[in-house]
Amino acid sequence: MTDQFGRNIKYLRVSITDRCNLKCFYCMPHGAPAVQHRDILRYEEIARIVRIAASLGITKVRITGGEPLVRKDCVQLIKMIREIPEIDTIAMTTNGILLPEYLSELVQAGLNAVNISLDTLQRQRFRAITGCDGMPDWKALLRCCVQAGITTKTNTVLLAENREEWAEIAALAQEFPICVRFIEQMPLGQGIMDEQHTAQAVLEQLRGRWSDLRPAKTQDCSAPARYYTSGKLMGAVGVIAPMTHRFCRSCDRVRLTSTGQLKPCLSYATHVDVRARLRGGASDEEIQELLRQSIYQKPANHCFGMQTDDAERQTMNRIGG
Ligand code: GTP
Ligand code: 5AD
Ligand code: SF4
Repeated sequence: MTDQFGRNIKYLRVSITDRCNLKCFYCMPHGAPAVQHRDILRYEEIARIVRIAASLGITKVRITGGEPLVRKDCVQLIKMIREIPEIDTIAMTTNGILLPEYLSELVQAGLNAVNISLDTLQRQRFRAITGCDGMPDWKALLRCCVQAGITTKTNTVLLAENREEWAEIAALAQEFPICVRFIEQMPLGQGIMDEQHTAQAVLEQLRGRWSDLRPAKTQDCSAPARYYTSGKLMGAVGVIAPMTHRFCRSCDRVRLTSTGQLKPCLSYATHVDVRARLRGGASDEEIQELLRQSIYQKPANHCFGMQTDDAERQTMNRIGG
């Protein structure tokens, strides 16, 4: 369906848990605040909402967290969503820690794509950024994803801590047919607006390594990332620049939080309480109307960096990025 600004909304991001097995300093260094189990949507409830959203034109679902793979039986949810005929793409954003354990089951259940958070290739730095040990063997993991035949991307948040590694991380796209993406930090969770570590800064560093780096011919216009290629890269490099290059005009997504709030935009506290209506016995038609109205009213732009009435600080783990 289209919103009030004529954007075609076809992508639903679903956070299935607030919990995470890492404590990234820019997200939730002290761990997730406890949410009562009963407040989290059950898989049956999520599947029902996705089914209704699909009737409004949603074709892509991304499962996020916190860390989605810490929730029990996550594979079951993928299977349930796979049964909805209108949904052509099921993707997941994960920190990769538990991915080796679940990858083949997830793919068998119908997962098409995975975005893996990868802020450093160095063990000590991984500990400094995430507060945890247990950095995955990134190359082995990426190889498994590629071999499993799913679309594979990595996400690196641009930080002072990993600045010297940007080109080395991007070089993963030289070895694997994947998209290596760099993200400007957003003022969500413990994130700050960081004027030093921007899209421009990373592109400068990457051009030092690949002088023929150029915008890719095919761009997924609705996605937040802008992609670049080079003759030497098997995959591509992407830059997500919400702070310096707003992509809101082509935004195609809405979000469902783990507690069943539908949020038309990442940056605002505004939401509708789908869970309350669902548990209050609303019919599919009533839920559909609730979703329709919320999607229609999606704001034109994000409000990062602005003083708004709605400036309550959003946490990344609850809204799933
Ligand atoms: P694709 O579907 O593969 O393009 O992935 P994605 O970029 O939509 O999802 P992912 O979960 O990998 O998110 C990567 C980064 O982009 C995270 O930091 C997200 O918070 C950010 N992001 C995703 N969607 C939006 C959005 O609508 N607005 C803003 N400002 N940032 C977003
Ligand atoms: N700004 C930008 N990206 C963030 N992420 C988490 N918090 C922030 C933030 N404040 C990233 C994670 C993950 C993706 C879903 O969002 O590192 O890759
Ligand atoms: Fe869309 Fe909001 Fe993201 Fe902007 S910040 S791209 S309007 S969800």
